[in-house]
Amino acid sequence: MPPTSPRINISPSQETIPPVEPCTLIIFGGSGDLARRRLIPALYNLLLDGLLPPRSAVIGLGRKPMTDEEFRATVRDGVIAHSRQALAEDMWTDFAPRLFYLSGDNEDPNTYARLNARVAEIERQLQLPGNRIFYLSIPPSSFAPVCEGLARAGLATKPDARPSYSRIIVEKPVGRDLASAQAINQVTGRVFDESQIFRIDHYLGKETVQNLMVVRFANSIFDPIWNHKYIDHVQITVSEAEGVGTRASYYEEAGALRDMVQNHILQLLCLVAMEPPYSLDPDVVRNAKMEVLRCLKPITGQDVAQVTVRAQYGKGATQGAPVPGYRRENGIRPDSTTETYVAIKCFVENWRWSGVPFYLRTGKALPHRASEIAVQFKDIPQILFNANAQQPQPPNVLALRIQPEEGLSLRIVSRVPGTRAETHPVEMDFQYSNVFGRPSPEAYERLLLDVMTGDASRFMRRDAVEASWAWITKILEGWQQQGLRTLPEYEAGTCGPAEADRLIENDGRAWRTL
Ligand code: BG6
Repeated sequence: MPPTSPRINISPSQETIPPVEPCTLIIFGGSGDLARRRLIPALYNLLLDGLLPPRSAVIGLGRKPMTDEEFRATVRDGVIAHSRQALAEDMWTDFAPRLFYLSGDNEDPNTYARLNARVAEIERQLQLPGNRIFYLSIPPSSFAPVCEGLARAGLATKPDARPSYSRIIVEKPVGRDLASAQAINQVTGRVFDESQIFRIDHYLGKETVQNLMVVRFANSIFDPIWNHKYIDHVQITVSEAEGVGTRASYYEEAGALRDMVQNHILQLLCLVAMEPPYSLDPDVVRNAKMEVLRCLKPITGQDVAQVTVRAQYGKGATQGAPVPGYRRENGIRPDSTTETYVAIKCFVENWRWSGVPFYLRTGKALPHRASEIAVQFKDIPQILFNANAQQPQPPNVLALRIQPEEGLSLRIVSRVPGTRAETHPVEMDFQYSNVFGRPSPEAYERLLLDVMTGDASRFMRRDAVEASWAWITKILEGWQQQGLRTLPEYEAGTCGPAEADRLIENDGRAWRTL
């Protein structure tokens, strides 16, 4: 059923999406997986939806030798396999001639002179105004040579240096600890102004994640109860069915804490816990989120063992397919201590959240792909319908489902019809697809469009990246001090290790079943 009341536009300008000027998007890592699976399909969907500025161009840059034609064929396959909307031949025929490829080594200064010439030629050919977006989908060790190469070739210019813009998108990982994140920020900050840097966290482009602020601040019923007086605890879960897949070399160095918690999960936590910002201005919103990171109680020393759990998947099966244990996956060291699962209990030490635990968990090779934020409210008094201590009424839970079916549900207790005095928990359920009837845009569509319009609200600011790394680095140091030679295991396809169950059950609570 379509929504019945009028829709209200909430873009920061309070109008519609600002006009998007034609631009040239240069993807470093152009022959890689991200470009093929997510970026080009996202651009193609923007084109189908009439949102990609006409005449824009994309240049993939990678070490692999490829012609423009070969690049177009590869990304076409990527669109067929991964696009939200099916490939339409006539649209593709329009789009393909705007895709180009340049092979070159990021470390070679010559690459930038060649890139400069190619960009100039394409911009002339397509009559583009010279707006450039550089997408760094490459390992962080290449960020410095790329930024410096761009600066030397005159491709990166500061705002106000010319009428058109230069912007840079930085893919994760932005570092592997606080010191390396600071080093990356320094390198990018030498060449680009903070207003030109878009540090991407694709979770911030997901529909339900964007909806979090709307749920909290466009409804009057939630704010009065959104605090320690009414909320018992919050659970944030990002569960993945897939194992490490083909990303062994990256994942071995990262692990679940760096890969998922430092960025995606902490950003979700910020959106749940932040104070109402006074406007939707990007920096006002980001200041409000930053406050949460400042209030996150550091987990250090002995506490690390008490309130964090890390584990690896062992042999098992997910979604009907056998999974070797993590340490038997291709490219993984047989004695690896990289965690594929992490659970953390933490606190936001401020007035609103005093004493409310936030339980965070994420893992690979779990039974399903399912992510949600669940806000569990306090128990009702033990009288009336809750008088029997042996059978307490289930608490109210507001669950915001991020994936796979985006939506939200509220669990309430209801009377069972009939003559017996029975109660039963029921779910009031809202699913995006039922109400709005079409699949939501992919996160990368939203975020690429944001960069083109210069809206940084859904991107990580430098101080936030460093604050989350500061918090994560203390946990990493605690783990290092523990010096474990093996990690607890959970069978692939099960819900995680027994240690994680104990973490929450020791507090008289339980993980939600996903
Ligand atoms: C990425 C991580 O940032 O997010 C991956 O590097 C993870 O390990 C992915 O699989 C999950 O994203 P999504 O959108 O599939 O939930």
